[in-house]
Amino acid sequence: MTSSKTILRALDGETLPTPPIWMMRQAGRYLPEYKATRAQAGDFLSLCYNPDLATEVTLQPIRRYGFDAAILFADILLIPQALGADLWFVTGEGPRLSTITSQADLDKLGPVSDIHETLNPIYQTVRNLSGALPIETTLIGFAGAPWTVATYMIAGRGTPDQGPAHRLMNEQPEVFDALMDKITEATIDYLLMQIEAGAEVVKIFDSWAGSLPSAAFQKYSLEPARRITAALKAKYPDTPIIGFPREAGDGYIGFAKATGVDCVALDNSVTPGWAVKNVQVDGCVQGNLKSSHMVTGGQALVDETRAIVKAFSGGPHIFNLGHGITPDADPDNVQRMIDAVRDV
Ligand code: CP3
Repeated sequence: MTSSKTILRALDGETLPTPPIWMMRQAGRYLPEYKATRAQAGDFLSLCYNPDLATEVTLQPIRRYGFDAAILFADILLIPQALGADLWFVTGEGPRLSTITSQADLDKLGPVSDIHETLNPIYQTVRNLSGALPIETTLIGFAGAPWTVATYMIAGRGTPDQGPAHRLMNEQPEVFDALMDKITEATIDYLLMQIEAGAEVVKIFDSWAGSLPSAAFQKYSLEPARRITAALKAKYPDTPIIGFPREAGDGYIGFAKATGVDCVALDNSVTPGWAVKNVQVDGCVQGNLKSSHMVTGGQALVDETRAIVKAFSGGPHIFNLGHGITPDADPDNVQRMIDAVRDV
């Protein structure tokens, strides 16, 4: 029987007359209902670890817009916290963590087998969602890719050039490699638990893949994605995986084949014309409207949305933004984008 879930059909390689659609950061501060629930939770991390409220914010964009997928509400930095790092968010600035700059710092982390104690509420959110979503809506779980998570664990915060992580990689390669291995193993266990709890697709966010030069990209973006994909597929061969090596440029070419992911998410640095020839030839792609259109709106939003739909219409495609929607976006522009995709 053909699935009623269009996202699963696209991930299976089907070319659909209208691409299914969801949006990175679709539950977020541009929505008044998100802000209200977040205020009720107190702060961002309390929201992530409260299964009832995390379920509620995951469902809000589904109720408002009828997206074809819901993405679990959580954060990529819960893995470092579950491994024993300190984590907090500074309002208006972003995440802060204890740093890792030596073997001694690495030794302070707990064992991978202990992560579920912290992460159990996340699995409960996934279970809640799999019972609560409309039949046609696909539930996407996720984790950060090891390189991207490592950049935050090493620097203790977001950095414009991931300098501290590059420095550790070059100056103490054995500490860096041990950290990458630990994150990779934790990520495999975390994603397996999400799938067991009901996630139907998982996405691996490598937001800082673009700062890895090509040999390092192979070793620290592509290879961990391949390892994670192989481990998940060994147990759940039918669960599709979306890879997002953001700003990988030429690294996008052959990424799906080399890693085994079912779909590659595209950022805004590649044009649809290029991606059709170089990436969509290997299967499903996701993307890639500039998220600034959600702020500026107007005819440009409609024209650009239609151009992306048309460019990718010859193969499997999931419509999305090239990166997350920002807090200053206008919720009405999201509806305009959806209408333009569905041509209503
Ligand atoms: O997409 C979704 O709606 C699902 C939930 C989700 C969040 N973060 C919620 C969130 C997902 C998939 C993420 C991924 C994530 N988190 C990434 C990778 C994707 C990307 O954007 O590149 C990264 C790098 C992070 C780490 C992170 N979390 C940062 C740097 C920040 C601060 C910046 C910001 O936008 O405030 C966060 C906070 C965060 N994660 C928020 C949300 C909704 C905002 C928190 C708030 O409500 O104050």
